[in-house]
Amino acid sequence: MGNRFRIAINTGGGDAPGLNAVIYAVTMAAHARGWEVHGIQQGYAGLFDTSRLVQLTPERVAGIMNHGGTILGTTNKGDPFRRPVERPDGTVEFRDESDRVVESFHRLGFDVLVALGGDGSLQLAHRLSQKGIPVVGVPKTIDNDLVETHQTFGFDTAVTTATDAIDKLHTTAAAHDRVMVVEVMGRYAGWIALHSGAAGDADVILIPELPFDIDRVCARLAENEIQGKRYGIVVVAEGAKARGGGLVTRVNEDVGREEVQLGGIAEWVAHEIHRRAGRETRSLVLGHLQRGGSPTTSDRLLSLRFGAAAVRFIAEGRRNVMVAWQPPEMRAVPIEEVIGRTKLVPIDSDTVRTCRDLGISFGD
Ligand code: F6P
Repeated sequence: MGNRFRIAINTGGGDAPGLNAVIYAVTMAAHARGWEVHGIQQGYAGLFDTSRLVQLTPERVAGIMNHGGTILGTTNKGDPFRRPVERPDGTVEFRDESDRVVESFHRLGFDVLVALGGDGSLQLAHRLSQKGIPVVGVPKTIDNDLVETHQTFGFDTAVTTATDAIDKLHTTAAAHDRVMVVEVMGRYAGWIALHSGAAGDADVILIPELPFDIDRVCARLAENEIQGKRYGIVVVAEGAKARGGGLVTRVNEDVGREEVQLGGIAEWVAHEIHRRAGRETRSLVLGHLQRGGSPTTSDRLLSLRFGAAAVRFIAEGRRNVMVAWQPPEMRAVPIEEVIGRTKLVPIDSDTVRTCRDLGISFGD
């Protein structure tokens, strides 16, 4: 079909603020070249059920750029290689329906799939690319844990939300002379905790990259009292763990989903601070608040740049790549170099050192 491409776009895994801005930019940049863009709703489900395909035009995407969520919907149970299908007796079996997805993609006349996702969704996109679907990936996750890209979209918004929450916790903690322990997302990386904890003036930040000693956490909080500050703020990443301890997890009841669900470390930390230091302590989990709301200006701009770059890379004939922000440029890196790896916080990074200079403890 020459240089007039017919693009399919989907959003997979957990949502992140900025998805709609990427969809907007892909649609507008493709439309400007005379190409067509079709949204696949609910991950890959639209390729099984064409009623879930929606053509994206400038009119259709007008005004979506600043909205959170995704107009296409998303799922983290949309693995076409392991699709849960309910049997008549109510039990569930898993089927590999990837051949059907590939066949449907080509039958519908698509040339390229633009896959907006984190590691899990990009792994699926990569497996589909090996079966013949040309893919361009865009790195989405509030966790900021994808390698090769300086930042993912959604991260800045999540950090901003977490920082706002920590700001509010200061006043109530001070009013009650309490220790507040706030758990933030991030999976196995501590980016959200590090950035929001630093900007939110935490006393202690606990991240997966630096296993902590709970007695050192208590010691740091005791220093506050010596300095006349009778309250404390502890920011803990959901994937943080005590030295010699394990991850704190929740039971995952989602059918068709294999990943571990993290959560509960804040409660444990708060309980231990109370038990060991006798401090009045409360814990809270910020949870999905961090994924909600409008993208910040910075995320919006990054998302627009990712979307426009994806279209440029398609025009240049790049396939099976992920758009990566390598400041100041957007580059195309092979998806296989990204998947299965986790970008952790370098423990000697300037931000970590800045925190230490400011007296923030990592409990290490
Ligand atoms: O990867 C994004 C993320 O929000 C993680 O930070 C968190 O652990 C997970 O997704 C939560 O997933 P769910 O929306 O399925 O509860």
